[in-house]
Amino acid sequence: MERGRKGLQDESAIGQSVLEFYKALPFNYRQSVAEHAREIRARDAVAVYPVLPPLLGDPAVRVLEIGCGTGWLTNGIAYHYGRPVLGIDFNPVALERASAVAAELGVGSQFRVADLFTWMPDAPYPLVISLGVLHHTNDCAGAVRRLGGEFVAPGGHLLVGLYHQPGRRPFLDHFRAMKAAGASEDEMQDRFRELDSRITEDTHLQSWFRDQVLHPHETQHTLKEMLPVIEACGMTLESTSINRFQPFESVDELYDQEQDYARIAAERLAAGEYFPGFFVFLARKTA
Ligand SMILES: C[S@@+](CC[C@H](N)C(=O)[O-])C[C@H]1O[C@@H](n2cnc3c(N)ncnc32)[C@H](O)[C@@H]1O
Repeated sequence: MERGRKGLQDESAIGQSVLEFYKALPFNYRQSVAEHAREIRARDAVAVYPVLPPLLGDPAVRVLEIGCGTGWLTNGIAYHYGRPVLGIDFNPVALERASAVAAELGVGSQFRVADLFTWMPDAPYPLVISLGVLHHTNDCAGAVRRLGGEFVAPGGHLLVGLYHQPGRRPFLDHFRAMKAAGASEDEMQDRFRELDSRITEDTHLQSWFRDQVLHPHETQHTLKEMLPVIEACGMTLESTSINRFQPFESVDELYDQEQDYARIAAERLAAGEYFPGFFVFLARKTA
């Protein structure tokens, strides 16, 4: 589809505002390099995604992370699984931190400043991961097509994490209502701190609060919307967080389950729990 002049302006304006936003303070930023490294050493956060450890067990796997930010995953894979990983992100501030953390940990992860829409790998990768990134671009489906179609090797895997349309709504509505009622940013940050009590350090909290509540551009999606996109790249859905990565008989049961996400999100929020409304899917390149 041909885009008009206005469309092109919007496209670059979105990318530019997202980049400036993250340059001011990258997501998941901590006070010091030592703190990032301590957190990675202390626990294997990669295993939060149970589909990853079996894939990382393959000695031939090479990993590409798109939009790696400060590199908790890229450096975590290098540290806990010893696999070669390349992280790309268009924010040089985040990558400076990610590289310093790699040096502190003594791992060989590589980082490159690049925009996912213009960069191309020298060769496709057996495992491509992108968590919490593509919904901050002007074309989420186009980005999934690019990763699945061009970055993943035949037989390889793609793991993508996105905001979920029904699941995200209660969280966004909650903070929009606070703002409409005149709450200040400090008050909203205090509310976010209450909800997400895992975060104790101020810089870290601020980087999460901005990302979750003050972001200049995010979109929300569903598995049902994404399935035709991944199939058009010759990929088959293998697993998803929608049913907690359990085996499934048909995608229709997953579509039914994802409809329930608005209710689950509202209940969690009412119980004072953090529920960002995020889902992941793992697809394999089969054609
Ligand atoms: C919410 S952060 C997630 C970072 C990381 N994946 C994580 O889980 O901590 C989104 C990241 O996407 C990056 N990003 C957004 N658009 C991008 C683009 N077009 N090309 C490369 N990176 C991009 C941002 O710079 C930012 O680091």
